Amino acid sequence: MVCVENISKSYGDIEVLKNISITLDEGEILALVGETGSGKTTLAYLTAGTIKPDSGKIIFRGQEVGTIEKKEFFRKVGIIYQSPKDSISHRFNVFDAIAEPLRIHALFDDNALKRIKDVLNEVQLPDEDYFMQKYPHELSGGELQRVAIARALILEPDLLIADESTSFLDPSVQAKILRLLLDLQNNRGISMLFVMHDIGVARKVSDRIAVLHDGRIVENGPAHRVISNPQHPYTKLLIDTVKGS
Ligand SMILES: Nc1ncnc2c1ncn2[C@@H]1O[C@H](COP(=O)(O)OP(=O)(O)OP(=O)(O)O)[C@@H](O)[C@H]1O
Ligand SMILES: [Mg+2]
Repeated sequence: MVCVENISKSYGDIEVLKNISITLDEGEILALVGETGSGKTTLAYLTAGTIKPDSGKIIFRGQEVGTIEKKEFFRKVGIIYQSPKDSISHRFNVFDAIAEPLRIHALFDDNALKRIKDVLNEVQLPDEDYFMQKYPHELSGGELQRVAIARALILEPDLLIADESTSFLDPSVQAKILRLLLDLQNNRGISMLFVMHDIGVARKVSDRIAVLHDGRIVENGPAHRVISNPQHPYTKLLIDTVKGS
C-alpha cells in the first residue's frame, strides 16, 4: 500500500534519513522502532505527506505522494501526532475537533452528528453533549489521545499513522489505547504505521518490525523473526534492554 523508495532527508548538515526503503502492505501493522532522534517522526511525516524528502519517492497505492491531489490523499491517510497538542487545537472542543476534518472535506451534513457519536463510541468515549463540549484542558491524557484517534478516524482512512500515540501515558492507559488501536485495525482492516520506542511493545502489536538506527533501516522483518532471530547488533541490544528491564 505504501512503498518508501530510497528516501533521504537532512536538516541543515544533519542527514536524518539516509537512503531509506521500506514497504507497508495492505492491512498490515508495521512498527517503526528506534531511539530518540533516530528520525521516526520524520519518516512518519514523510509518509503522511506533511514534509517532502530531499530525494527518493513515496508511493501510495501506485501513485507518488505529492502528485496525489492533497484533499484526496489526506482523506485516505490519518495521522495521530506524537503530542495530542499537535493533533488538537486548544480552541476546539471535542465536537469541533472531530468535526473539523468533515468540514474541510465538505462532508459536514445532516449525518455528521451521528458520525461523530459513532466514532466517539468506537474510541470508547462518552457521546453525550457535556463531553462533546469539553476543551482539551478539561480532558485526561488518555481521553485527549482518544479524541485525537477519533479525529484521525472520522474520514475512514485506509492508512493510520500513529506516532508514539501512547508513550507519554501511564502504562495501564497505554495498554488500553494500544488495545483500542488494534481492535480498530481488526474491525476496519486498515493498514497501520506504529511509531514506537519500545521493541517489546512492538512485538505485541505488530505484524512486522523495522528498526531505524543511524539514519538507516537496520532490521526489517516479521515481528516474531526479528525478536527471535535479530540480524543486527543494534536490534539485539534493544531486545536485551527490554529483557533486562
Ligand atoms: N524541523 C526540524 N528542523 C531541524 N531539525 C529537525 C527538525 N525535525 C527534526 N529534526 C532533527 O531530526 C532528527 C530526527 O528527529 P525526529 O523527530 O524524526 O526523531 P524521532 O525518532 O521521532 O525522535 P523521538 O523518539 O524523540 O520522537 C533529530 O536530530 C531532530 O533534532
Ligand atoms: Mg518522534
